[in-house]
Formats: sequence, C-alpha cells, structure tokens
Amino acid sequence: MEKILIRGGTLVTDTGRRRADLLCLEGRIAAVGDNLDADGGAEIVDAGGCFVMPGGVDPHTHMQLPMMDTVVADDFFTGTAAAAAGGTTTILDFVGPDHGQSPLDALAVWRERAAKATIDYGFHMTVSWWGERFSLEMEPLVREHGVASFKFFLAYKNRLMLPDEDLIAGFSRCRELGALPQVHAENGDLIAHLQHKLLSEGVTSPRGHVLSRPPQCEAEATLRAVTMAELLDVPLYVVHVSAAGAAEAIAGAQARGAKIVGETLPGFLAIDESVYADPDFDIAAGHVMSPPYRPKAYQAVLWQALQDGVLSTTGTDHCCFTRAQKRLGQIDFTKIPNGCGGVEDRLHVMWHLGVNGGRLTPERFVALTSANAAKVFNLWPRKGSLEVGADADVIVFDPHRTKRLSAATQHQNTDFSVWEGFESIGAVVHTMAGGRHVFADGDLRAERGGGRYLPRPPFGPVYQGLM
Ligand code: URP
Ligand code: ZN
Ligand code: ZN
Repeated sequence: MEKILIRGGTLVTDTGRRRADLLCLEGRIAAVGDNLDADGGAEIVDAGGCFVMPGGVDPHTHMQLPMMDTVVADDFFTGTAAAAAGGTTTILDFVGPDHGQSPLDALAVWRERAAKATIDYGFHMTVSWWGERFSLEMEPLVREHGVASFKFFLAYKNRLMLPDEDLIAGFSRCRELGALPQVHAENGDLIAHLQHKLLSEGVTSPRGHVLSRPPQCEAEATLRAVTMAELLDVPLYVVHVSAAGAAEAIAGAQARGAKIVGETLPGFLAIDESVYADPDFDIAAGHVMSPPYRPKAYQAVLWQALQDGVLSTTGTDHCCFTRAQKRLGQIDFTKIPNGCGGVEDRLHVMWHLGVNGGRLTPERFVALTSANAAKVFNLWPRKGSLEVGADADVIVFDPHRTKRLSAATQHQNTDFSVWEGFESIGAVVHTMAGGRHVFADGDLRAERGGGRYLPRPPFGPVYQGLM
C-alpha cells in the first residue's frame, strides 16, 4: 500500500482552510499537521502554492447504462478513470432494473459491471417499475446491500414514468426504511403530448427537444414531488434542477420546513438553450439531455440558489454518447439518446465559474463538489473530508495552472464535449484515490478494479435534519 506525503499545501474543507501537510497511509488519511516527517520512504507530493482538497464526490452518474437502443459510451472503467483525471474519487451511479426485473437481480448485474471501476462507487436504485415485489425487495436493498436511495421518474412516459399513486407508495416505503427518495422531475404526460405535436408539425431536429420540455414541465413536476414529500413527511432529493421555477418550488418547501435537497449540474450554470439552434446536428444533438439547457437568465437564479443553500450539491448526470450514437435521432429528435458527459469536467468548471467568478469561496466549492453529497448520501466523513481516518481521497489543485477542456484531450470515452474550448484557471494536478496516486500531473494511472463498493446505511443526515 502506498505511503504518500502531501507537503506544503493549503488544506481546504467545507468548513475552513489551514496550511498543513497530509500523510496518506494504507488507504487512509493517517496524519495532518505541520512539517510531517516522511520517514519510511513515503512518496513526496509537493503541494506548494496549491490547495489540497477532498476528492470530488459525484452523486449522479450513469456508466454503462443501456438506453434508447444503445449503451452509454463510458463503462465503469473508462468513466471512473476520467473521473479520477478530473479530481473525482467517488461516484454514485444508478442501477436500472428492466421493467418487471427484480431490483436485487439488477443490483447483481450492476455490481459485476462496476467491479472494474478505478475509484470507489455506490449505488442508487432507479424505481423503473412499481409493485409488491419491488417494495419488498427494497428492504434487503437498504438493510443488507447499502442501497439507501431510490430515484423516481415523473418523466419518460411509457418507460420509466410512474403515476402519482405509485410515487406516493414509493416515497412512503422509503420513509419506512430510512431511504432517501430522489426525483427526476418533469411532467412526462405534457412532454409526450408536446413531442407528438411537434413531430406532427414537422419539427424533427434537436430544437424539438427543448421545445417539448419547457421549464414549466419541470417546475410543475418539482412542485408536485416536493408537495408529496412534504405531506408524507419524507425527505426528498431533487436531481438535476435546471429551471428557475423548480428552484423556487424547492425553496418554498424548504421554508416550510420540508427536508428537500436540491442538486444542479455545472452545465445548467453556464450553457444555455441556444445550443439547440446550432445548424450542426452533432453539436445540437450532443447537448440533448433531460432536462434540457435553459434560457440564459436562469443561470443567475441557480447560482443564487447554490449560494443560499436552496441547492446544495452538484452532480454531472454523466451519461455520455458519441456523435455516431446521437445520430440515432437524426430524423426524429425523440430518438436522440439523452445525456451528456462531464464527470471529468465538473471540478474545473465549478472552480473557474464559481471561485474565480467570485460566486463561491474555496470552502463552498468543497461543500458543493464533495462534502455535501457525502453527507446527504451518508458517506461522511469517510468521503468529502480531510479528517484523520477518512479515506485518502485527496486532490492537489493548482489555482494558477490553466486547463483547456476538449474532446480531443479528455479521457471520457466520447468524441464530443459540451465544454469544448472552456478554459479553467485552476487545475487538478494530483488525485489520490483510496491512498493510490491515480493521477500524477497529467499521468493517469488508473487501475482496473482499484475502486471499492460503498454500502451506505439508511437514516442518514437528511433524515436527522442535519442537511
Ligand atoms: O438526459 C439525461 N439526463 N440522461 C440520463 C438519464 C436521466 O434522466 O437522468
Ligand atoms: Zn434524470
Ligand atoms: Zn441522470
């Protein structure tokens, strides 16, 4: 097991910063202090002039996910290697049972797929269908397998969407088990209606994607979901908040005392809906994800919500496809596989736009990229902290180094990037994952199977009112 001494940096957590050295030993943070001794031949990592922070925790990824007649381009190895190159050391991915499939069986399939991950990973379960068997299997999923969060879809009619009565039953079951329900909140009936209307009017291009998913669909579904959670007295996590009306619905419920946690994605803070009007199909389709990118004016609302704590985590919804895969929808926008990449990009984008942009302190950056997700999903302080005894998931971040994001240089397994040409002042220089030096100044040393499965106990901090 590697012994690594990170020397001379400024340690930053979600609560403060200090100049100190940090020793990684046997996969854990073994010591934090001044002038630590490297006796016994530790590898020395010089962090002079750099920030030393917890590795990123990405609470929302989709590796190797079968979707819309294809499979996501990143598998658990390539996707987690890319994550490590971008400073993320933990992902929480979604198990997706087929309709009627036992969720326990689906978990076994995902466990096998994820065994090649190079960083640690845990799972949420998608409630892709509802029935007695699903409800029954939730108990062993939570209590024996550590799958303590379940995502419900209010969108994707005739595929994943559940009616309100199933959402109510599912949220109630989560409450019994201490599991955290999550929602993809868009009104699937309205979207299906608008898709049909647009296609019948001859709108087949990617522009139809954003026209068929107006922000009102997200605002309505978010209000519906948070209302259910509030009345059922269960916490709720709202994934990928993009619309101002959705953030308002969350803020309103929070103000009434409901335990609602909101997540947004870096893309929603910087990319707007004009991308769907690009005459190049590959560019417009490359941005197709749900919810879609929104009017530019919403970005200020989302930043404010991140500053106010209405939104408290950032994920990527990493779900990347190649240009060729996106062409499955060349003559019908509803056939474009939904999703974009970003697991490798999140920290750079959040630092540059957030910290350099004067919107976030470095401490808030840590909260939004690792600590809060670790707390919400009950991995704290093992993840998202720099406490002695925590997993040695640590990044060295040089605030002066410039990094240019591009499909040509990324490790994500696709030929497209929504961040093409984005320049960050500030870059991840080293990534330690579980005490292994997996990214060393441009040298990606990802090892297949180096990651471990993270079971998570129920009744986490959100249930306890600590988040
Ligand atoms: O477009 C997206 N977000 N694709 C991934 C599936 C989902 O909705 O989370
Ligand atoms: Zn979603
Ligand atoms: Zn997703």
